[in-house]
Amino acid sequence: MSWTDWMRGQEVEPSLYAADLSRLGDQVRTLLDAGARIFHFDIGDGHFVPPITIGPIVLQWISPLVHEAGGRLDCHLMTMSPERHFGAIAEAGGDSVTVHFEACSDLERTMADARSRGLGVGVAFNPETSPQVVGPAVRGADLVLCMSIEPGYSGQAFMPAALERVAVLRGLLPAGIHVQVDGGVGADNVRELREAGADLLVAGTSIFGAADPGSAYESLARAAV
Ligand code: DX5
Ligand code: ZN
Repeated sequence: MSWTDWMRGQEVEPSLYAADLSRLGDQVRTLLDAGARIFHFDIGDGHFVPPITIGPIVLQWISPLVHEAGGRLDCHLMTMSPERHFGAIAEAGGDSVTVHFEACSDLERTMADARSRGLGVGVAFNPETSPQVVGPAVRGADLVLCMSIEPGYSGQAFMPAALERVAVLRGLLPAGIHVQVDGGVGADNVRELREAGADLLVAGTSIFGAADPGSAYESLARAAV
């Protein structure tokens, strides 16, 4: 099983980093009921990005809920030496790991390590990194994540330059590699991002900051078709 089997054409992925963590299970259930199936889980180490975020200890409580409903957990590793965390993530129920291009000295080896553990594989790149540099280096990946903010925190404004970067990236990649976008994604830009070629749309604040996260997910998912 791989990303292509998990996806229903395109997916809006709630980013659990932006959830109310005092009632994370309830929020996950609400979104499963609203139709979400792929959840984005942000792991930050306080080095590659300033904050220490959530990690496998939290993931292990959420993964049974998501898996029982046929869902998947897409882990975004905003960390140095991401391979150090693969074992714990796989054990906690993570289904895929996305590592940062900027954090890997031997990307091919890191991707092979993830694959050997049965994990899906993504490669993320920051706003300063050129898609032309990343494109040729990610042939073994399932997805490439174009950051539309500086990684680290939820709630930042979308960088409009990401639209062009997504389009350039899409043009460089073979059809089988999915394009994901993360940061400031919401009702204002989801359709344009789809048109630019993104088929995985990560949304934190635009879902969890809404009065009704379930219906915020539903309307984003409708707009992303
Ligand atoms: C932060 C994370 C994002 C974040 C997105 O760098 O990678 O996934 O949770 O949150 P919003 O949608 O609020 O920008
Ligand atoms: Zn993320």
